[in-house]
Amino acid sequence: MASKLKVLIVGSGGREHALVKAVKNSPMLEKLVCAPGNGGISRDCETVNVAAEDVAGIAKLAKDGGFNLVICGPEVPLSMGLADELRAAGVAVYGPNKDGATLEASKAFSKDFLKKYNIPTAKGENFTDAKAAEEYIKNAPFDVVIKASGLAAGKGVVIPETREEAVAAAREMLEGGMLGESGKEIVVEEKMEGEEASIMLMVCGTDYVMLPASQDHKRVGEGDTGPNTGGMGAYAPAAVATESVLAAVRKTIIAPTLEGLKKEGIDYRGTLYVGIMITSEGPKVVEFNVRFGDPECQVLMPLVESDALELMNDIANGKLDPSKVKIRDGFAAVVVMCAQGYPGSYRKGEKICLPEDSEIPDGAWVIHAGTKASGADILTSGGRVIGLTGTGETLQEALDKAYGLLGKTSFMGAFCRRDIGHRELARLKAK
Ligand code: AMP
Ligand code: GLY
Repeated sequence: MASKLKVLIVGSGGREHALVKAVKNSPMLEKLVCAPGNGGISRDCETVNVAAEDVAGIAKLAKDGGFNLVICGPEVPLSMGLADELRAAGVAVYGPNKDGATLEASKAFSKDFLKKYNIPTAKGENFTDAKAAEEYIKNAPFDVVIKASGLAAGKGVVIPETREEAVAAAREMLEGGMLGESGKEIVVEEKMEGEEASIMLMVCGTDYVMLPASQDHKRVGEGDTGPNTGGMGAYAPAAVATESVLAAVRKTIIAPTLEGLKKEGIDYRGTLYVGIMITSEGPKVVEFNVRFGDPECQVLMPLVESDALELMNDIANGKLDPSKVKIRDGFAAVVVMCAQGYPGSYRKGEKICLPEDSEIPDGAWVIHAGTKASGADILTSGGRVIGLTGTGETLQEALDKAYGLLGKTSFMGAFCRRDIGHRELARLKAK
């Protein structure tokens, strides 16, 4: 067997806690550290208080600590060149270099890339000049959406009701300084109609493993109403991504994307998140992200049957054999418990009551997102606080297991959506 690994996981959210849980029992593990981690992560492994965005600090921690593998959760350190710096120092990294991370960090770059390699996506153009954008919006033969090119923590997309609103949004981004540097360039593109799904790939150059398709629930309210959030729940596999949709995704999206990256000289190693819209013309790319989705990661990790650490280590070292990787049958669902007021302003520092380990059934995970440890207590420290994940042979069984943990998990002002998976359940009922 290969020598044991000292592993550093970077990040502090639900995604990173799911990654910690996925790797912490691997026989390949010698030592697991997470920086900076959160309250729940600190109960599962050692944590070190270095922020994910402190690239120099993370790189120093990894090098000085003799880590063999760094798994980077969020996109920001990747877009700042964390992986480049670590690879230059001989540390293997699960996560792309800065050039690969540009697929997420610049929607203008990714629009150009999609066009160059004839990958199905919304028609559109990039703009830095407000007058030119206005001209395009007024004359476009389709309804438009306006996107800030740079990273905007989920706040960079405006779906206007009218052309006037579209022009105003473009102006606010380009001239009004809304979203700062991220809005200095925008993409104006065709509004697509269809259902969305998240396709998460674990990529090593042109080889990849496709994880089950998942669906996030971005709106805060039941029935997909109210403002957007970072994600209120998810489930996988999402049957809306049928075999034939997935075959089209592989052929028309993934193959040319990975070939395109290679042609651009980008040796991509890490997660590629392909957000798709299933349109009447087939699946089209909505966005690329260069990391696992959150909360999607919280339903995907429990479905990976193979040793997730071995998989990420193989990718980081450029030797993925996709045929070796096993995905479990069955379903996973997560419901996210949020702080009162989220996604607006909310209180922090509420004490969280959590189930004992013995109260968590097999196949269920209690995942911490915005929490911190304070002595023996765990306190809320973010808007999305806890993810309750269940797995089962059916989606209903997975949901029942996740929701079953609600009675044992509480904090002042906690709320969640009670209808995770509603589209899929309605489809199943209609059958
Ligand atoms: P993005 O950050 O590009 O994923 O956009 C955030 C959300 O905006 C997506 O998940 C979609 O729901 C929506 N969106 C983005 N682009 C389009 C588009 N061209 N047509 C329709 N909806 C879109
Ligand atoms: N759940 C959406 C995202 O992670 O971008």
